[in-house]
Amino acid sequence: MNGDALLGDLGAIVGTDHAFVDDVGTYSVDWTKRFGAPGAVVVRPGSVDEVVAVVDWCRARSVAVVPQGGNTGLVGGGVPLDGEIVLSTRRLDAIGPVDAVSRQMTVGSGATLAAVQMAAEEAGLRYAVDFGARGSATIGGTVATNAGGVNVLRYGMTRRQVVGLEAVLGDGCVFGHLSGLEKDNTGFDLVSLLCGSEGTLGIVTAARIRLVPRASHVSTSLVGFATMAAAVRAVGVIRSGTDSLDAAELMLDSGARLVGEAFGVGRPFDAPVYVLIEASADHDPSEQIEMLLSGCEGVTDVAVAVDARTRRDLWRLRDEHTAAIGTKGVPRKFDVTVPVGALAEFIEAVTGRVSMASPASETFVFGHVADGNMHVNVLGGDDDEVIEETVLGLVLEHGGSVSAEHGVGRLKKAWMPRQRSTVDLDLMRAIKRACDPGLFLNPHVLLDTW
Ligand code: FAD
Ligand code: MLT
Ligand code: ZN
Repeated sequence: MNGDALLGDLGAIVGTDHAFVDDVGTYSVDWTKRFGAPGAVVVRPGSVDEVVAVVDWCRARSVAVVPQGGNTGLVGGGVPLDGEIVLSTRRLDAIGPVDAVSRQMTVGSGATLAAVQMAAEEAGLRYAVDFGARGSATIGGTVATNAGGVNVLRYGMTRRQVVGLEAVLGDGCVFGHLSGLEKDNTGFDLVSLLCGSEGTLGIVTAARIRLVPRASHVSTSLVGFATMAAAVRAVGVIRSGTDSLDAAELMLDSGARLVGEAFGVGRPFDAPVYVLIEASADHDPSEQIEMLLSGCEGVTDVAVAVDARTRRDLWRLRDEHTAAIGTKGVPRKFDVTVPVGALAEFIEAVTGRVSMASPASETFVFGHVADGNMHVNVLGGDDDEVIEETVLGLVLEHGGSVSAEHGVGRLKKAWMPRQRSTVDLDLMRAIKRACDPGLFLNPHVLLDTW
């Protein structure tokens, strides 16, 4: 079918303004610039019925579809590889009223994380998932990748915030569970199954999400440590000493300096290792945090945010790591988990091994230390395979995961047989065929062969 006819058909479904060729790469190239190329056909349905109509049209012509939200994914899962159509959910951005009794809200999958956080805040509540891409990442994308972020240690991953979903499956059927029932033990948990499915089982069109109470006091401090081991130990002490810990984000001197150089973000002191600690409670938690820290070794400095501006500045030091590294080139991004007990040793080992394997490369390590989830970004150097084997091989040696929170996408498909059992992979294939019998929803993502 020629391009005009194709756009004509799709435009008749979604409106001519919402079916077009993306010549500049906004939808066709991923955030890391490592995947995709300009020129994909993009459709932006405005309702679940239009999503069904687009899916039926594509299915009838065996045209594959890549569901896309904010296109902030970091594993190449949201852009076409070989002629797929991008189905953008950005217009499905309704934000329902907050139900104060159940502390739930129904939102369109195209609503951004920031918009949902604001709606919850206006109702005196909080949506517990948060991370640097909040302004563009969509709720549908965070469900599809089961996104983590900075508050996982207290509230869990996205899956734990999802009460129900509406989604269009690969056969065009609409799967709907938005009633908000907290208890419904009638059969398989199909909602959880779609969380983390990366657009391969269904296109999420709406989500019923759980909100949490908004604490009246927040305490944010940047703590400097002499060593990695001291930092990891201190986070363990704080985590076991209080229920108010929301976030513990580790950064190294190299990353903090780079954020300073790239974006002029200052830091209150220099240290080899930093941990951004944030706690919230209905009393001021700062004294408790200070008392717990006072018993920790290796603390070199502490700076406590005194107001919203200084709190924001401390968070910018952490949030801007990804973008700052991107100013120096296209990094190889490794988003890994290792058992927290092995974390300090892993971080020391991985930076040393990468520089041995690829002397011309530069490694930045930062991340969600309480979850054992580190982001290892490697710039420069020339041997992708050697670097990948060095980092991910070490992760598997430590009994960790090659993908902590970003998903598998196209970036880590090759590692799935080394991460998951044959039983697991065969079961995933069977589920995929049940939800998407034509294998045309995001066919090049997550597994090499369906
Ligand atoms: P997209 O990038 O559009 O798509 C991501 C995947 O989800 C693709 O496979 C796509 O096919 C699928 N998908 C998207 N929408 C739907 C839908 N409605 N139905 C079905 N499938 C869909 N991630 C974390 O987990 N933790 C972090 O701390 C974190 N920090 C980040 C910081 C920065 C600066 C950036 C750029 C990214 C960060 N990310 C983080 C990665 C990214 O933001 C998340 O993976 C996010 O969930 C992607 O949402 P999105 O709407 O942009 O999805
Ligand atoms: C983060 O925590 O900043 C993200 O997961 C992004 C990244 O890995 O770059
Ligand atoms: Zn992260």
